[in-house]
Amino acid sequence: MSELVLVETADRIRTIRFNRPAKKNALTQDMYTAAAEALESADTDPAVRVSIITGVEGVFTAGNDIVDFTQRPPDFNEQDDMPPVRRFMLALLNAQKPVIAAVDGLAIGIGVTLLLHCDLVVASDRAVFKTPFVDLALAPEFASSQLMPRIFGHAVAAELLLLGETWDANRARETGLINRVTEPEKLGETARFIAAVLAAKAPTSLKASKALMRTPAESIEDRMDRENAIFASQLQSPEFAEAAAAFLERRAPDFDKPG
Ligand code: COA
Repeated sequence: MSELVLVETADRIRTIRFNRPAKKNALTQDMYTAAAEALESADTDPAVRVSIITGVEGVFTAGNDIVDFTQRPPDFNEQDDMPPVRRFMLALLNAQKPVIAAVDGLAIGIGVTLLLHCDLVVASDRAVFKTPFVDLALAPEFASSQLMPRIFGHAVAAELLLLGETWDANRARETGLINRVTEPEKLGETARFIAAVLAAKAPTSLKASKALMRTPAESIEDRMDRENAIFASQLQSPEFAEAAAAFLERRAPDFDKPG
């Protein structure tokens, strides 16, 4: 395990922590590889129900390591040996289990882009969000040019993607980039609380619901059919049997021992 990305699993929650404070958690290719491996293995590890991506005190991440990026620019045409940043973002995009981001302080560049692919985001009241791609003569990345206008509307997305504005936590909350704002001291606890709530839910139902929310737009009728097929299958599942029994017996469901 890289010491620049700390990975820990406890109480069914995997925590993936960027840990390079001296460089404001700027992400190198090795760090992307380590984070990608942690996300990929979370999906196959039955001990993991939810992942949290976070940083250190005062820094989520200052984005791509500009030095590393300049010296070893990613070749996105390379199919056999995928650039680590792409592998990481695909691992996040394809994560079947929920991923929560917990942001304290700086979230710059891909530090914001990756939030668009997480399921829930909590941030401290001193968090700042910025995507200075145009200022760096670059361009939006990893579908942020599609996701931001969809989430915020075009005009508000232009504040981040064209103007390169810096948003504080309140602006991020009101635009829908993040879910919740906490005091810095309560950030980790809040993220773990939300993760524990998700970890106690029916895993297949959660995965299916997440996948539905991430499925590209289609006709309303097609979506009804897609949902109905999953709904019918869930009705036959041991998870539903446990949820129904728990309701009738006036107790909390236990999805570790379904049926
Ligand atoms: N890539 C590489 N190194 C970075 C970095 C990045 N994205 N962000 C910060 N660092 C390094 C700095 O070069 C510095 O290294 P040094 O101490 O060896 O000189 C160290 O981290 C601390 O950064 P510093 O700029 O001194 O801290 P600060 O508190 O004054 O400013 C930032 C912090 C994040 C606002 C500033 O470093 C910054 O703007 N970084 C670039 C962010 C960016 O544009 N990211 C998008 C990349 S696509």
